[in-house]
Amino acid sequence: MNSTNQLLKPITLKVNENGNLDLGGCDVVELAEKYGTPLYVIDEKTLRAICQDYKKAFSKYPHVKFLYASKALCTMAISKIVYDEGFGFDTVSSGEIYTVYKSGADMSKVLFNGSNKSYDELALAVELSVGRISVDNFFELSLLDEIAKSYNKTIDILLRITPGIECHTHEYIQTGHLDSKFGFDLTQVDEAVELILGRYKNLNLRGLHAHIGSQIFETSIYGDEIEILIKEIARIDDKFGIKLDEINIGGGVGVKYIESDCPPSVYTIADIIIDQLNKSIEKYSVVPPTIYLEPGRSIISTSGVTLYTVGSSKQVPNGKKYVALDGGMADNPRPAMYEAQYSAQIANKPLDDSEEVITLAGRFCESGDILIKDVNLPKLEEGDIICVYNTGAYNYSMASNYNRVAKSAMVLVNNSQSDIIVNRETLDDLISHDKIPDRLK
Ligand SMILES: Cc1ncc(COP(=O)(O)O)c(C=O)c1O
Repeated sequence: MNSTNQLLKPITLKVNENGNLDLGGCDVVELAEKYGTPLYVIDEKTLRAICQDYKKAFSKYPHVKFLYASKALCTMAISKIVYDEGFGFDTVSSGEIYTVYKSGADMSKVLFNGSNKSYDELALAVELSVGRISVDNFFELSLLDEIAKSYNKTIDILLRITPGIECHTHEYIQTGHLDSKFGFDLTQVDEAVELILGRYKNLNLRGLHAHIGSQIFETSIYGDEIEILIKEIARIDDKFGIKLDEINIGGGVGVKYIESDCPPSVYTIADIIIDQLNKSIEKYSVVPPTIYLEPGRSIISTSGVTLYTVGSSKQVPNGKKYVALDGGMADNPRPAMYEAQYSAQIANKPLDDSEEVITLAGRFCESGDILIKDVNLPKLEEGDIICVYNTGAYNYSMASNYNRVAKSAMVLVNNSQSDIIVNRETLDDLISHDKIPDRLK
């Protein structure tokens, strides 16, 4: 069965009676006029559909919990929607914890994860009673125990481990291979467990956590990960006599950025995971554990598009034709960071079948600020609205104010209604944290 992450475009996208692209029942060109560009637009129906795909796909295993990886896109409205769909949250900073908290989530459904959490961040997590903390290293074990003691609390933790699995994705988004900055090496697990059982009385070990990478198209890799985690909890039980009843397998499921991308269906992944769970549970005679999944990109990417307005263009003699947009690497750093590819259409003339090979360039002062290289699009004119697909994940969440450009607004569309969920920054927002020392006045 197919799932929503396998689509290039949001499910409500169509061409309307004005001959324009239409998303969530809203004319995309009118959205650009009303809210300005660059504009992030999130289609609520697509977001809810993928959450429901995950729930349906895993319904055959009774002990599954979904944590939305907030790093993909963390705003209060997005948190509210995924929470409403039954998801908890994987968070990696006090900013994400606070956003989720202010959106009204039950904090027991939140996990705090990360390779170098600060004292203040851990203290906030303890104070707000987040459900689980995934401890990444020996330093953090000791720091968290000290904080928990000062709050007179016992904290449920997972140990983040490096399972030694190499997935075929960009080197920068691989995390589960042996030489990684994340988590305990498998050879360090016993020492960590001994410390928790013997010295760190305010920590309660519940299970193991791993994450193998992002934008993964392979499916068997999740079976390998389950086998490693269950084998490890059985080994820990044998050696220390403690029954760990939780495994967290992270996120990583891919999405379709360009036509040739073939991301897996979450239904296929669920079948592989559940099959391997049942096999490994029997093989190692362990109690069926609760399994946590932490999808980020596959939850939010497809629901998001970014709208840009076409500005200047330049034909290099005997070279490329560059068409410049009013956004680029500050609202979407992925192409400049790791040559990520995207697909686009012209929102105000999607049915135009003329063709020209051009390069969509960003407006920022870096030669590397190219959004899409050598793309086939109808002839573009100044003022045309470009709709770039699959920008829901790791775009706004990675955005910057490079060149002192204000961050773009975000709009949620559904049933012909559009609502601002993140305001566009103003010039005053840009200088609001600046100070001129008296001696310079
Ligand atoms: C621990 C952990 N969980 C979940 C995710 C989410 O991954 P994705 O967005 O690929 O699903 C990440 C991403 O880096 C992660 O590090």
